[in-house]
Amino acid sequence: MTEPTEVTITSYEEAREAFRQKHLRQALYDAGDVVMADVLVNLHGDAHRSRRRLENRLFRRDSQALYERELFPPIVSETLGPYIAAGSAELVGLSHQMMMNLAAFTSGVDRPLGTPEETFRLYSYLMLFIEGATLAHFSGDREAKRAEVAAALAAFDTEFLQPSIHRRQEAIALFERGEISEEQLPRDVLTVLLRNRDDLALPDEVVLRETCFYLLAGAHTSATAFVRTLDAIFEMASTAPADAERARRDMGFLQRCVHETIRLQPSSPVAMRWAMEEIELAGGRRISPGDKVVIDLMAANRDTAAFGDTAQVHDPHRHLASGVAPWGLSFGLGMHACIGQELAAGTDAIGDVNAQDQLYGLVPVALHAVLAAGVRPDPSDPARRDPASERGYWAKYPVVFGP
Ligand code: HEM
Repeated sequence: MTEPTEVTITSYEEAREAFRQKHLRQALYDAGDVVMADVLVNLHGDAHRSRRRLENRLFRRDSQALYERELFPPIVSETLGPYIAAGSAELVGLSHQMMMNLAAFTSGVDRPLGTPEETFRLYSYLMLFIEGATLAHFSGDREAKRAEVAAALAAFDTEFLQPSIHRRQEAIALFERGEISEEQLPRDVLTVLLRNRDDLALPDEVVLRETCFYLLAGAHTSATAFVRTLDAIFEMASTAPADAERARRDMGFLQRCVHETIRLQPSSPVAMRWAMEEIELAGGRRISPGDKVVIDLMAANRDTAAFGDTAQVHDPHRHLASGVAPWGLSFGLGMHACIGQELAAGTDAIGDVNAQDQLYGLVPVALHAVLAAGVRPDPSDPARRDPASERGYWAKYPVVFGP
């Protein structure tokens, strides 16, 4: 078999155009089907449209405001509390634990015991699901890893998902009998799926994978953005101390720090698509059916034509031309545009920071909580990057808290 032709797109404008093509279908997770088969980000056409329309309801402004202002803050404080009391933490683990707790809430995975052991088991499953979704980058024995992930999915199903389904079915039955109102139903993806199972023709294993996908889509991306932004703010403390100080007390500015971090370090450095038909882009580039289109987000987000001469620099004061998103294309665009974008990073604050309906997003909200607790790098134990990671992930990031 001949290798498909690969077309790489690096400019911001062309990348925007490519994301909007309806004849390009998802290609990024082909090797990750153990977790990712038939989940939203892998669907195309009508199947994608009908599931997205239902799940979208959960991410309307009013729900996001409720999550950000009422439902998330207690989860953030509960997760952080023990670390602040102990005076120290390791940020990579802490951020995944915190974002997983928030993502479990939005995806509909209950933790009835509420014990640290239970959270730790869910965390171990999550880490394996992440490996399953990104098997394309796995350098060891892929078949063995796939089998390990499949076994974890089955164990997660028995331990977490089935009890969560059971509780939601009981709530849905109460609602159908008029004994509770719609507002009293859980606000999560699993409830949406269970209420619309027949319309969407969803087999059990797709309900399982879709719930796991939401868990990992929400947790891993937000956790890395959290650690990377904090690292940028620590760096600022020596290069621009007034900005570092402002990030501690001005939520709008902190949000801009998050957006710049997400622009410079997208959670996935590329998006990938398969061309299903002949396509011609505005600049004359031709794409043939069967071509693999690689949208290089790292390059597009640093395109000087969109972000100016300082595109490579983390600058929360950056002035953006109209129509250019502060996070670049890190949340995608078009049919697969991130459904959790506003939940993670809020609404675009430019020029409107004090508006009543401004949402900051869970990454800035969680960062604000650690900054308020006086977080700073542990002087006795420097942070180190994971040498095996091509994406510059941190392996360990020890911090201390206090005045
Ligand atoms: C900093 C945080 C996040 C980043 C950088 C991020 C990034 C992305 C990107 C780039 C895509 C598009 C993938 C593509 O076009 O191939 C995407 C899609 C998606 N994201 Fe996010 N995401 C984040 C947070 C979240 C959160 C918090 C949730 C859930 C609550 C979420 C749920 C999803 C879902 C369900 C899709 C698929 C949408 C579809 O295919 O219609 N993400 N995300």
